[in-house]
Parts: sequence; structure tokens; C-alpha cells
Amino acid sequence: RTFAIAASIAALALGLTGPASAQSPIIIKFSHVVATDTPKGKGAEKFKELAEKYTGGKVKVEVYPNSTLYKDKEELEALQLGSVQMLAPSNSKFGPLGIREFEVFDLPYILPDLKTLRKVTEGPLGARLLKLLDAKGITGLAYWDNGFKQMSANKKLVTPADYQGVKFRIQSSRVLQAQFKALGSLPQVMAFSEVYQALQTGVVDGQENTWSNIYTQKMHEVQKYITETNHGYIGYVVIVNKKFWDDLPADIRDQLTKAMKEATEFGNAQSQKENDDALAEIKKSGKSEIIKLTPEQNEAMRKAMEPVYKDAASRVGQPLIDEFLKESK
Ligand code: LMR
Repeated sequence: RTFAIAASIAALALGLTGPASAQSPIIIKFSHVVATDTPKGKGAEKFKELAEKYTGGKVKVEVYPNSTLYKDKEELEALQLGSVQMLAPSNSKFGPLGIREFEVFDLPYILPDLKTLRKVTEGPLGARLLKLLDAKGITGLAYWDNGFKQMSANKKLVTPADYQGVKFRIQSSRVLQAQFKALGSLPQVMAFSEVYQALQTGVVDGQENTWSNIYTQKMHEVQKYITETNHGYIGYVVIVNKKFWDDLPADIRDQLTKAMKEATEFGNAQSQKENDDALAEIKKSGKSEIIKLTPEQNEAMRKAMEPVYKDAASRVGQPLIDEFLKESK
């Protein structure tokens, strides 16, 4: 009798913990750290809409924005454990998984515009980088844009010398660490959800981010100056738990692939506008002074950050950087 009870408990447990794809509807928890009203937030909502439509409701996508479910580091662990199925971390956040190659996207001034970026993400290098995730139990599905980063602080940042000794929050990327070290600043890795408070309380003096992230996190309310540097890029890799993805019925996986393709096109077509609108709102708020650099000042910044390429080569390899530069031509 004890055996029968144990067996039925085991069966029940199996039923509850069996493949997620055996549940009806199939639930995809999509966790992310930014606001809904951002390029990533809107892309996630679009994916939800299309995924549910194309699967005729067989799949339900639950989007958890603004780090409500997990913060940066935890979300990657949760994905590997299968507690969430889908994420879109920035390229700068794969280092803690043991994959540093995506940090090539963090190299200062490596991308003059989004058209150039597309050549890389849609080319053989983009595909090869996604494949690196397989070994971590992760499947890479798409590249999503945010946009170009600006520098913010409570002091005016114009020349490279202005960065000396300034404490900057960074994402968990060695390339970004090297970038601020090259400027004589003090970089500190911190989860995105903690940035606003860290700026407000002075734990750090500044940070780098896109107009959209600055505006939707209200960073401009606690930063006196934002310098329009466009020195680097923030974009995302949309990822799923590999086992979850592989276990899906083939027709469902096809429908989700189609939904992802269209959500990607939708999101990437409007990311620039999201950032332009956020900049306009920040200007309108009058809370931060926006500093524009002259071509000479821009050039001085570029020069000051040049050593980062050498440093990065020792981590991700010069061939990868060369390949990136070649494909972006
Ligand atoms: C950051 O941490 O600053 C960004 O990666 C946040 C995001 O997801 O855009």
C-alpha cells in the first residue's frame, strides 16, 4: 500500500514536472529587466501577441518586465534551470555564463550605425555566435536592437580627462570594464534594476545607457548631465532554454519561429524611434543638461578608448574582432 501511494505521488510529480510542452496551454515565461515602453519591452509584447495568434492559443506567453521576476544574473540562471523559458539579455551580459564573445559588440565605436550592425548579426558571424550558446543549454533565436549609449553623470563629461576617477556603473562585460579603465574611471558591475538608486544615493557617479533606458528608468532625474557620445551599442540576444525548445512539437516550434522573426522585424524597425522619442522627452523634462560634442571632442574620446581593442583581443581573440570588422564593411 505504501508502495502504491509512493508510486502515485511519483506519477503526480512526474505529471507536474514533465516537459513543459506537454502542458496545455504551453506557457512561455519571458523575463526581462527593462520597462514595457522600450524597444525590448515592445518586442516582447509583439512576440507574445504573434505567438499566441499563430499557435491558436496553444502557447501562452507571460511577459515579466522591469526585473519583476529576476534581475540580470539571476535570470540567466533561471533560464538554465528552466524556471523561465525566454529572455533577451544584452550582449554585455553573457560573460558570467563563460561566453565572452558577445562582448565584441561592446567595443567602443565599432558600429557607426544600425545598418552596419545588421550585416554582422545577419551574417555568418552572428549565426556562429548564437551557436556558442548550445553548450550552455541555451538556444539563441534572434538579435534585437536597443540603440547607442550615452554617458551620464553629475559632472560635465566633455574631454577624456573629465572621466578620471568617476565611478561608473557597468554591465557585466570585461570590454566595458576596460573601456572605463582606459578613461581612468572606476567601473563597477551592477544589475540594471539597481542603477537608479545607486545614482540617486551616490554609490556611483554615472553610467552609460541608451536614451530609452535612461528615460524609462528616470535616470535623467538623478543625473545632471548627459553627454551625447553614441560611443557604444546595446542590443540583445533573444534566448530560450534549449531543452524546452527542442521538446516542443515541431509545428508549434515553427509557429513560434515565425512569430519571433516578425517580432524581431517589428522591434528593430522602431528601436531608433523609441530612442529619439526618449531623447525628446528628456529634453522636454529639463532635468538633465544634454551635452553635444564637437567632432574634435568625439575624436579625442575615440582615441582615449582605443586601448580597449588590444585588451579585448586578449580575451575574445583578434580573429573575432577582425572578422567583426570585415563583416561590418
Ligand atoms: C543595462 O543593464 O544597462 C541594459 O542591458 C539593460 C537592458 O536590458 O537594456
